[in-house]
Amino acid sequence: MSDPMVLAYEERGSGPAMIFVHGFPFDRTMWIPQLAGLAKHRTCIAIDLRGHGLSEVASTSTFSMDLFADDIVATMDDLKLDQADLCGLSMGGYVLFAMWRRAPERIRSLTFIDTKAEVDSDEAKAGREKAAEAIAADGMEAFHDVLGPKLVGENPSADVIEHMKRMFLSCPPEVAAADSLAMRDRDDSTATLATISVPSAWLHGEQDKVMPIDAARATAEKIPGCSFSAIPDAGHVSNLENPDAVNAALTAFLKG
Ligand code: MLT
Repeated sequence: MSDPMVLAYEERGSGPAMIFVHGFPFDRTMWIPQLAGLAKHRTCIAIDLRGHGLSEVASTSTFSMDLFADDIVATMDDLKLDQADLCGLSMGGYVLFAMWRRAPERIRSLTFIDTKAEVDSDEAKAGREKAAEAIAADGMEAFHDVLGPKLVGENPSADVIEHMKRMFLSCPPEVAAADSLAMRDRDDSTATLATISVPSAWLHGEQDKVMPIDAARATAEKIPGCSFSAIPDAGHVSNLENPDAVNAALTAFLKG
């Protein structure tokens, strides 16, 4: 396994640190609305997972949710942060579960957005392999054209569509393929839910097509004391589609 690396990040605000972990195949820029909206309450740190955005890597052969989590711990060490609030969307949520298992003492609170705890079914695992092959063969634009429309709700704004496409196209194909295989191989987090003993929140787009909200609500109920917020007018990238509702839910959680 590769050594953990210190990640690139963008920081805004003051106060206790909150680290934002992006989804697949995105980068730190997906959190721009949260950096703007939460800077009064937290030092907001949006990281680029290895290979994404400005966190360049020489090799993509060892990607895993555990390694992504260890990279966040290495970055916290570098920033001299003993603890942080963590917020992750989708694949970012998978990373939060891994980090809770590996370094719970570094976590002050957990916010899960549009994610899930279960592992992939055999069919979904086969889909990850096909996706990795398609990305390698046809590139990110073709992959965007297939996946992009599934990630937004019923009425995405032109800005959201454009921002999402920009992130797809700036993700190197070999990185997206490695992510896909790392997600295929991720650990099941359902048994982890009941072990979470820090304050937690779960935010979920009402129109999420890839991870339906009813299943998400049932998952959140298994985390002791977890608050659940349904985000209206938003699909899977709810933080981009309805940033006001997401920022309001995050602010209420952090104040509480
Ligand atoms: C994401 O947004 O990170 C992905 O939809 C996660 C996944 O494919 O499981």
